[in-house]
Amino acid sequence: MMAGQNANILIIGCGIAGIGAAQRLIRHGFNNVRVLEATSRSGGRIKTGSLGSNIVEIGANWIHGPSQENPVFRLACQYQLLDKESMSEENQAVEVGGHPPFIPNWFSSSGRKLDSEMMAPASELFMTLFEKCQEFHDSGEEPLPTVGEYFKREALKVANEEWNEDQTTKKLRLAYLGTLLKVECCVSGTHTMDDVGLGAFGMYKTLPGLDCTFPGGYEGLIKHMMNELPKDTVLYNKPVKCIHWNNTYKQSSQKGRTCPVTVECISGETFDADHVIVTIPLGYLKKHQHTLLQPSMPLRKLHSIQRMGFGTNNKIFLEFEMPFWDEDCEAIYLVWEDESALADIVSDVKMAWVRKLFGFTVLKPAETFGHVLCGWIAGHESEYMETLTELEVLNTITQVIRRFTGNATIAPKKLLRSQWFLDPYTCGSYTYVAKGCSDFDIDNLAEPLPLPGSKDQPLQVMFAGEATHRSFFSTVHGALITGWREADRLLSHYTTPAGLVTSKL
Ligand SMILES: Cc1cc2nc3c(=O)[nH]c(=O)nc-3n(C[C@H](O)[C@H](O)[C@H](O)COP(=O)(O)OP(=O)(O)OC[C@H]3O[C@@H](n4cnc5c(N)ncnc54)[C@H](O)[C@@H]3O)c2cc1C
Ligand SMILES: *[C@@H]1O[C@H](CO)[C@@H](O)[C@H](O)[C@H]1NC(C)=O
Ligand SMILES: *[C@@H]1O[C@H](CO)[C@@H](O)[C@H](O)[C@H]1NC(C)=O
Repeated sequence: MMAGQNANILIIGCGIAGIGAAQRLIRHGFNNVRVLEATSRSGGRIKTGSLGSNIVEIGANWIHGPSQENPVFRLACQYQLLDKESMSEENQAVEVGGHPPFIPNWFSSSGRKLDSEMMAPASELFMTLFEKCQEFHDSGEEPLPTVGEYFKREALKVANEEWNEDQTTKKLRLAYLGTLLKVECCVSGTHTMDDVGLGAFGMYKTLPGLDCTFPGGYEGLIKHMMNELPKDTVLYNKPVKCIHWNNTYKQSSQKGRTCPVTVECISGETFDADHVIVTIPLGYLKKHQHTLLQPSMPLRKLHSIQRMGFGTNNKIFLEFEMPFWDEDCEAIYLVWEDESALADIVSDVKMAWVRKLFGFTVLKPAETFGHVLCGWIAGHESEYMETLTELEVLNTITQVIRRFTGNATIAPKKLLRSQWFLDPYTCGSYTYVAKGCSDFDIDNLAEPLPLPGSKDQPLQVMFAGEATHRSFFSTVHGALITGWREADRLLSHYTTPAGLVTSKL
């Protein structure tokens, strides 16, 4: 019999990190593993919905870097959830460095389409500067504190030196660079690129492979993984209020032995555990950092929770009778001609939140989706959008599309938007490295309690989830790897000689 086989293990959160941890522990013989999930569903930020007869991804959409090193890709292949093209060697070998080459259309606020020759120098400049930003982490330099400040300084330098032949073109290109900053806010999940640390930006690593989607929906992956868990592993509708650790919950006693941890749900129900793996999103941790653990978390973990960034990125799906974009178009950029100051924030959020919407991606292929666009909006403007009714959002965006296309009769048929900030168990979208953060902050988030060196029972509270991965934070594969990491930590705890001595159960 394996040591620790009967260890009482509780996993909090049934997103991919929690499911991954449970699957691995159970497969290796642990027979007392349960998952407590706040909501009535599994998947967390993997959430497939529908718009009319179409499936749409409310949360994660792509496998970023679908190639052999990516465990989400490997699982998706194993479960046969991808189309042939996505699995091809050729697709796996493509290096895009995080920015898939979408074929764009540009529309400007004066109601005209802009041509790609005029916009190309701005796209190129953006890519060059963006790549430079990624290099500062490894080179150990940080010429300015944030990506936004560096980007603005360098972009204005180039614009003022090289784009002077025609002031109108220069202004339009600068306006488009502002749009690209808004794109980057969505990618990073931040309010403004002025919040994203320049030196730490390159911590995020990309894998080879041209990003692909799940033709049947991302939740298919969750369904297949869940099928491998014993029935009743997950207890739904169990929002956890407090994790009492270090033997502080007085009533906690099980026949013959005492567990060091007691997890208390909002309902008052309690669960004893030897080990708890917390996979709760950073947004929730930020909001409940002082009450979630009893005794409180060590200061260095609290400070890292406060320092790390967790912003909002939302999607707004729109279905049209007829496309107003070109047949080959994959992304639509909205260029506000009066915005040439490279500002990625809106000063009057209530009146002008929609200016933060950078534009749309086009759902492909049209044969399956019809004419559906996905709008993207990040930051406080996105959080404000969540408080409006669907009809208010629809009206505002319809106005914008009419203005930018110059066609006063265009009317989307249906709308669906995400509301990740209002989601009480997510409180935003995903993690970014904020100004002043470093690799150490992520290490602090991931560090189990009690801290190393303590004489108390080890590995009482452990941490997994997207926010705890040094280079793949903000992704599905990052989250999955951290779930496995914490499962492995327990496995080796019970299989190394030290574990056998200290943890006889
Ligand atoms: C709009 C959007 C788009 C995205 N796009 C992509 C993409 O294209 N590709 C990609 O790789 N990644 C993408 N991501 C990120 C990806 O979805 C996440 O990184 C990943 O799903 C996180 O998994 P997780 O297990 O760490 O957390 P989650 O999936 O958030 O799981 C955490 C679980 O904990 C539960 N929980 C929270 N609080 C409590 C509590 N107190 N008690 C009990 N349970 C609790 C939650 O309900 C949830 O089910 C996107 C995310 C969003 C929001
Ligand atoms: C845990 O309990 C022990 C004594 O039982 C105490 O010495 C230690 O400080 C406690 N640790 C924390 C983090 O509260
Ligand atoms: C405007 O949009 C409507 C609805 O999509 C379409 O039928 C019409 O042809 C468009 N008009 C022009 C001038 O493109």
